Amino acid sequence: MHKMEEFDPKENAHKLAESFLEKGDAVGWFEALYSEASGDHEHVPWADLEPNRFLVEWAEGVGLNGNGRSALVVGCGLGDDAKYLYDLGFIVTAFDISKKAIEWAKKIHAKTDIEFAVVDLFDPPKEWDKAFQLVLEVYTIQALPLGLREKTIDAISSFVAENGEIVVVQRHRENNEEPEGLPWALSPKDLSRFEANGLKQVSRDEYFGDEEEPVKRFVVKYKPS
Ligand SMILES: C[S@@+](CC[C@H](N)C(=O)[O-])C[C@H]1O[C@@H](n2cnc3c(N)ncnc32)[C@H](O)[C@@H]1O
Repeated sequence: MHKMEEFDPKENAHKLAESFLEKGDAVGWFEALYSEASGDHEHVPWADLEPNRFLVEWAEGVGLNGNGRSALVVGCGLGDDAKYLYDLGFIVTAFDISKKAIEWAKKIHAKTDIEFAVVDLFDPPKEWDKAFQLVLEVYTIQALPLGLREKTIDAISSFVAENGEIVVVQRHRENNEEPEGLPWALSPKDLSRFEANGLKQVSRDEYFGDEEEPVKRFVVKYKPS
């Protein structure tokens, strides 16, 4: 008898991404993936209904505390990092290009007053310019093709207030390493684009995942210089 093939969410995401990227659409696959998942987070490879573990490790290490400061969460997906910041006492706005993801996040976090919004990073509301004391970005940069890297980092940099900070959690690659494909990890050279936006790196911490061949991630923090 024919054995049913097991569904592999990562492989599915790669196929979906490829089919959109082939048509020159770098972002359409996110909405398609969240819609296809129809409420089952196990179909969304990056969603585990928990805040990002590297973010948590870093935040606990530095004793991150909101104290009523404003935070913006970029490409928030199902909103678990937004909820983490909310619980730490930040006033949180979180956005994603996917309408489905935002509907889902609103449902999961209905008991909070996190402001969830459907917004394209490349076309944000004018009032978000230099408006947030903490800008948190987890895994969105690496999910967008290398051709969009500078534009993506420029857009993220624009949100941080004069007295604010940006915290970025991503996969690492060396400057001379060619990324094989999605996710397109970040090199130190990629990161230097934050400096071109008038920001200065104030910390960089490295972590390893629990994959068979552990993948290096980093949490970097920038402040306006
Ligand atoms: C790899 S997922 C990471 C989601 C979430 N940050 C996490 O770590 O669970 C990337 C997210 O970025 C969102 N995204 C991609 N391009 C975007 C854009 N141009 N504007 C806003 N969100 C975007 C996707 O819809 C997706 O939810």
